[in-house]
Amino acid sequence: MTGKLQDRVAIVFGAGSVGEGWGNGKASAVAYARAGARVACVDMNETAARATADIIAGEGGKAIALRADVTRLDEVRAATEETVRALGRLDVLHNNVGITAAGGPVEASEESWDRVMSVNVKSMFFTCKCALPIMVEQGRGAIINISSLAGIRWTGYNYSSYYASKAAVINFTRGVAIEYAARGIRANSILPGLMDTPHIYQQITTFYASVEEMVQARHKLSPTGRMGTAWDVANAAVFLASDDAAYINGVELPVDGGLHAKAGV
Ligand SMILES: NC(=O)c1ccc[n+]([C@@H]2O[C@H](COP(=O)([O-])OP(=O)(O)OC[C@H]3O[C@@H](n4cnc5c(N)ncnc54)[C@H](O)[C@@H]3O)[C@@H](O)[C@H]2O)c1
Repeated sequence: MTGKLQDRVAIVFGAGSVGEGWGNGKASAVAYARAGARVACVDMNETAARATADIIAGEGGKAIALRADVTRLDEVRAATEETVRALGRLDVLHNNVGITAAGGPVEASEESWDRVMSVNVKSMFFTCKCALPIMVEQGRGAIINISSLAGIRWTGYNYSSYYASKAAVINFTRGVAIEYAARGIRANSILPGLMDTPHIYQQITTFYASVEEMVQARHKLSPTGRMGTAWDVANAAVFLASDDAAYINGVELPVDGGLHAKAGV
């Protein structure tokens, strides 16, 4: 244990994983616990939230599992209140939930656009609405919002709602960062690049002829020659949530092996 988050409480929305292995949210929840935090693992899939909480408990950490759909304000509010009730306070808000829907403006439906904006952006408005008053009262808080390299770049896929939603996450985060800076609260975005997580085998394969083609193409596209892992995102999240990042506020941190610096994808 590094203890960087000793005695802190973190709430992770989207703390489960859509498949076997390590998703970004699951790894981040476990990494917060390894750094000493007590963690509320929230997911609309209660079994997935429970699986992450069980890993934390199995390592000797303290975690609770809660079910909530981030598109529902009442459920987000209930999960936030239960976290404070069960774990005593709230220091870190981690917004991991995000989905993709294929299609540019012509192909994508109005419903898919609305769904992506609701799950990826309105959710963060809801979680911040519920967490900020608690953090203000405590005089301290760190918010980590998971955007994407797609928030600042074309990433090779035609998913226009995803580009728009992830860009919105970045500037929403900047706004919160500035509005609350003088009250001891920091807000930063993480921009994962091409990560090898269960998520891509469900939501990105659709852009390729086969899973193998997807994996090889994504490794090749990365400047390092390989995709990143959920732990790369989790390590960045622990840093941004900790006092090591006490003077880092309103930034968007790419975790992408340098892909953002490359011309053309
Ligand atoms: N994997 C990549 O290459 C990559 C790249 C850039 C950004 N990202 C971002 O990372 C995040 C996803 O990471 P992950 O690996 O944990 O993904 P994941 O798909 O495994 O999702 C984590 C959890 O979110 C939950 N979830 C989905 N919709 C929900 C809702 N409405 N309410 C509550 N929970 C919900 C799922 O049940 C799942 O357990 C997203 O924001 C995504 O945009 C991923």
